Amino acid sequence: MGGIIGCVGNGPVCTVLLRGLNRLEYRGHDSAGIATVSDGSLHCGKDAGRLDEVCVKQDLVGLPGNAGIGHVRWATHGEVSRLNAHPHLDCHGEIAVAHNGIVDNHDELRAGLGGHRFLSQTDSEVLVHLIEDHYQPGVPLEEAVMQALQKVRGSYAVLAISSREPGKIVGSRRECPLVVGLGKDYNFIASEGVAFLEHTRTVAFVEDGETLVLEAGGARFIDEAGRERYPELSNIDWKWDQATKQGYEYYMMKEIAEVPEAIRRALDQDKAVVLDMAMNILRARQVVFTACGTSRYAALVGRYLFSKLAGKFCDVVMASEFHYFSDSIDKNTLVIAISQSGETADVIQGVKKAREKGATILSMVNMYGSSIARMSDRTIYLNCGPEIGVAATKSFMSQLAVLYMLAFTMANRYDEGVQKVTHVSTQIETEMKRNGNRLQRIAALIKDQHSCYFLARGINFAIAAEGALKLKEISYIHAEGMPAGELKHGTLALIEEGTPVVVISPRDFTFNETLANAAETKARGAFVVGVSEERHAIFDEWIEIESSEEIFYPLVTVVPLQLLAYYSAVVRGHNPDQPRNLAKSVTVK
Ligand code: F6R
Repeated sequence: MGGIIGCVGNGPVCTVLLRGLNRLEYRGHDSAGIATVSDGSLHCGKDAGRLDEVCVKQDLVGLPGNAGIGHVRWATHGEVSRLNAHPHLDCHGEIAVAHNGIVDNHDELRAGLGGHRFLSQTDSEVLVHLIEDHYQPGVPLEEAVMQALQKVRGSYAVLAISSREPGKIVGSRRECPLVVGLGKDYNFIASEGVAFLEHTRTVAFVEDGETLVLEAGGARFIDEAGRERYPELSNIDWKWDQATKQGYEYYMMKEIAEVPEAIRRALDQDKAVVLDMAMNILRARQVVFTACGTSRYAALVGRYLFSKLAGKFCDVVMASEFHYFSDSIDKNTLVIAISQSGETADVIQGVKKAREKGATILSMVNMYGSSIARMSDRTIYLNCGPEIGVAATKSFMSQLAVLYMLAFTMANRYDEGVQKVTHVSTQIETEMKRNGNRLQRIAALIKDQHSCYFLARGINFAIAAEGALKLKEISYIHAEGMPAGELKHGTLALIEEGTPVVVISPRDFTFNETLANAAETKARGAFVVGVSEERHAIFDEWIEIESSEEIFYPLVTVVPLQLLAYYSAVVRGHNPDQPRNLAKSVTVK
């Protein structure tokens, strides 16, 4: 996993490639490298470490050539080392290959490539040697790539360059994204458009199984049968400076600050599309949400809203488990896939399975033209702009906003829904201004604890789970979120003197029962942090939220928890944007 980029133009590509990789590094990486072609020779620099470190160690900035490929690696097969970093070269140093995905049959392929000299432990290296075998004199690189990939089982987005054909990049993909950007001075191919947005917003998507030949003069798309395809060009409606920190120390803080605006943008949808989706949901015999991580918690809120506002019961199946439930999916099922990236492998697999079973697919995604969007019958875009911090923040809020809008529309209350959620977005602005110092203090108070628990009831259970996920993934404090009523069925045994317990206890009909559960933890020494519009004697610390209707509490309670996680990461000395071992776009199962 990680990210790839290729660039070809009429001038040197090295710095353009490095900037593109810099935009992709948020996806998660532990090593980096680039390869370029100039004067009939291949130049390659790569190493373990973060991109900026590798740049210095390997002097990448100086690599000459008007065509090149780059890669940021997030290790799956083989340790983090220079030899395992991409690009990989063939035995004669003529071909360089960068790969995202997993080659399932790499052992078998490696065994069949007896005469070749392998330098890495990666599954990816077999690709360059396979291509080498097919790259006989007179055979163009694209032909060799196509032939080689016929032998490969698994997922890939692969880029290849050759010293014999300078000025040409060949790309191909299966189950991993590749998008082409056509600019004035440079043409690109990359895992996602954010890598080249500052040069061009004109894009075309490479289809599954297709091969692409990219040159300074344009791009050729070749389908699996060897026929040329002329894709539609589209425009990514994002500006590249949206993907910069704009004065913030970390992307995560910038993205949390963008939440109110992100909510308003998510609500700005074509009403006819929203009505159509709502009708489809109401009519379907069975509705199943599928998603991973934070997006799944949005689905849990959606399930509650659909039931509460429109009397429509739905289920939520986590995408990595979807396959095992597929016996119950049929043509009368509507599957709602939620994914910020639109590229999460488990969600893609679930959607594929559902399609095979004849289900209708609706999706909510942020990434324009992403795989999940293109596999869906209908898509609502979240429109929250690039989210660079690995931890999902503003995209979660956009997902919630869309779910609120849909639920209200299902209840024939579209205008009311939009107006009320817009109002809540302004309350969130007030809350963010008010709570900054308090949250920093609480983060400092809990910073040396090894565990933290989040309790809530009803619609806020999903927020307890999300608060815990945020805290653990970026601060590395173990955290669990649970319905408050579950506490006595096991977790209470772990509460001891000083254990932080965050109690999401808005003044709704769950208030008294939730506080009773908080009291049980307090009696065992817990340090109780209340998230409520009112201070209560039981709270050791209080996070003040705006008062709202019961169903809107998830929107006002979650932002302080995102901030608490952020401050906890920072006070513990961790970079909240790039938590260890995690990737933004989880393109492998
Ligand atoms: C947590 C987080 C992840 C993602 C999950 C799904 O902060 O960001 O749990 O929510 O990997 O990603 P998408 O929404 O891109 O499918």
